[in-house]
Amino acid sequence: MKQFIQVEDVPDKDVESLVQEAIKLKKQPFQFDDLGKHKTLGLIFFNQSLRTRLSTQRAAQNLGMDVISMNMNSESWQLEFQDGTVMDGNTQEHVREAAAVISQYCDIIGIRTFASLTDRGKDYREDVLSKFMQFAKVPIVNLESAIRHPLQSLADLITIEEHKKIKRPKVVLSWAPHPRALPQAVANSFVEWVKNSDAELVVTHPEGYELADEFVQDVSVVTCQQEAFEGADFIYAKNWSAYQDYGKILLKDNNWTITEEKMNLTNQARFMHCLPVRRNMIVSDAVIDHENSLVLEQARNRIFAAQVVLKKILEWKN
Ligand code: CP
Repeated sequence: MKQFIQVEDVPDKDVESLVQEAIKLKKQPFQFDDLGKHKTLGLIFFNQSLRTRLSTQRAAQNLGMDVISMNMNSESWQLEFQDGTVMDGNTQEHVREAAAVISQYCDIIGIRTFASLTDRGKDYREDVLSKFMQFAKVPIVNLESAIRHPLQSLADLITIEEHKKIKRPKVVLSWAPHPRALPQAVANSFVEWVKNSDAELVVTHPEGYELADEFVQDVSVVTCQQEAFEGADFIYAKNWSAYQDYGKILLKDNNWTITEEKMNLTNQARFMHCLPVRRNMIVSDAVIDHENSLVLEQARNRIFAAQVVLKKILEWKN
């Protein structure tokens, strides 16, 4: 694997094999602890993180890698991304130098850079991530970009594979309310990855929250949450802001909160969320604390999602 930006980077787009390899790694996490010896992973964060930062660090350590990390906005120079700019304003270093310099210290670079939610064109072109990809000299791993969160989606598929009771489960991605405007990245990626697995995918959201066509093409979308939940094996809750009316919050009321009453419509579905989660906004306490909740398993599987990706990239580099 040369890089990990989206599902297309999985060799032959064989997501099933990658999931199986991650499950094997989970059983013997230190089996390849020499593979990353004398190699360094750099973790570059333009935004906050708990799970991504710690699980990716743990994954790298399981492979024998060293890890260095930096919060760009508070610890480094303000970066310029435009070419040809006279840098007489607030930006102090151009991404051309910054990405190339980080590549002198690291063998793989992970980058987290969220959507602006103010400029859809810029976000959906992945302006920041693509500049790093252009000017870095080493492979890049997407730690959540403007429109995708592939390490989360891979962890989610590992979790579904471990807990499914039938070969082709019904997986429902449900929009749920949140007080702040959130990116579409987790939802986009989840759709993109589940489409490449053996599952029946249904997306449900209120009108106005349609995801971009490039993601939901050929996916069953319903605007009645109760109808979508019927017979579901997995309920994946997530908030996102509007794509059409870009970055806007159109609805905040709790009619779309995931409750026990709604979970009772399902086939004893397992509840999933990528975390962090706003309790009693996205999901009721009773649902997230129920034995059918998989949120901690998902968080644990972030290690093995990252580990299998780093292993594949290290193998390609060797
Ligand atoms: N799910 C996830 O990416 O968590 P963090 O934002 O805490 O990394």
